[in-house]
Amino acid sequence: MTTRTLSPASYDRLTATVARDTGERRTAALWIHAAALVRHAYDHGLAPADDRPPGPDGLLKSLENLANCHPALAPLADPAVLPLREQPLGAAAWAAVEEFWDRHPALEDERRVDGYALGDAYQLLSEEARKGRALCQTPPWVARLLLRLSLEPAMEEWGPADIRMIDPACGTGHIAVAAFHMVRVPPVHGRRPSPVEYGPRAVERALAAVSGVDLDAYAAALTAYRLLACSAHVLGVGLDRVPASWPVNVAAADSLLDRTEPLLAAGAYHACVANPPYITPKDPAIRDQVRAAYPQVAAGKYSLALPFTALMLDRLATPGGFVAQLTANSFMKREFGRRYVTEFLPRFDARWIIDTSGAYIPGHGTPTCILVHRARPPVGETVTVIRGNGGEPHVPEDPARGLVWRAIEDAVDSRLAWDRFQAGADFARLSGEPTP
Ligand SMILES: C[S@@+](CC[C@H](N)C(=O)[O-])C[C@H]1O[C@@H](n2cnc3c(N)ncnc32)[C@H](O)[C@@H]1O
Repeated sequence: MTTRTLSPASYDRLTATVARDTGERRTAALWIHAAALVRHAYDHGLAPADDRPPGPDGLLKSLENLANCHPALAPLADPAVLPLREQPLGAAAWAAVEEFWDRHPALEDERRVDGYALGDAYQLLSEEARKGRALCQTPPWVARLLLRLSLEPAMEEWGPADIRMIDPACGTGHIAVAAFHMVRVPPVHGRRPSPVEYGPRAVERALAAVSGVDLDAYAAALTAYRLLACSAHVLGVGLDRVPASWPVNVAAADSLLDRTEPLLAAGAYHACVANPPYITPKDPAIRDQVRAAYPQVAAGKYSLALPFTALMLDRLATPGGFVAQLTANSFMKREFGRRYVTEFLPRFDARWIIDTSGAYIPGHGTPTCILVHRARPPVGETVTVIRGNGGEPHVPEDPARGLVWRAIEDAVDSRLAWDRFQAGADFARLSGEPTP
């Protein structure tokens, strides 16, 4: 059976059923999702065998076991992250949860432990995360394009060994997981990496390279779990055998306002990649704090996406670092974007502007675009722009293969191939090699 057999409404119905016991939907969603996460770990052989009791108590025990596997998993036993004991579940609700996950492949098959389905399931379950914090998964094929335009050239420029990237709105980790794999197995452009690059050191290097921060503590814990699950799977060991000394750089924090979180240190990243929230802050106090912290972009009824751009370009990126984002294009049309367009963005080296408004990106009802900049003053006179001619004629069965998205990828491929050809020709000319 596949995920397609379960409609979004079925997640809603289950949450409503469980909420009769927990008293509210937020904790109901956490109970349901934690049950999937534990199944994922045990069914993939990532968690050590235990003698947990059946039922909700067994779930709490399993979460403790997972939390003990690695320091980065400690939030799974933290009642501030998962307040499950305070709002316990009865037998009927638990049976409904078990029956739901029996039918649902949140566990993926034995070859896939990346946890994409787990992330998507959290979005479907948690209305609070969707509406309150604008959680909306970035599909893996979008994440890969963003990384090709940012992390990949950053690795070419600074080398994969010491590369550092961050997603400061990492959600459940779709971008972070894709970045982990890109650093672990760097793309090959005309050179053969030595075999040692794929061993345990590559896993350690990839974990060290990738950082993620999110306001949602459970989403952040899920990102940490997914990065560790990928690491353990590649190493062929359980989560408890991934060395505790290996860093998992994921934190729960307000990326826009927190100035103490070490992962948000200024100038630390060669690539910043995000699908930031597009909403306007609902809490007036937060709205004013963000406005005060980002006066250059947070004007009028600003979208949070604008301060996120400023955070990445002005603070997190190292000089020359790459910043790629899938973001709402509302700033192009609305008054709040005027200073952003005329004063803020022109300070930076724009590399790509891609109109993705015609592409079908599930969950992203808002028209979007991709912006890629380098954190330095403009260089040269060329910005690569991919303009949209229209939308999808109908909702594609596989959104990654939609006509518009494929056309965007083809245009990116052609441009990158041309750039490589040009760079090769320039190199040959400068080194005195004869050109054809
Ligand atoms: C569009 S989602 C990103 C999804 C993510 N790329 C993924 O695929 O899981 C936006 C995320 O921004 C987070 N967020 C909103 N405001 C934030 C803030 N001030 N600091 C950090 N994260 C924030 C939300 O919790 C949400 O997870």
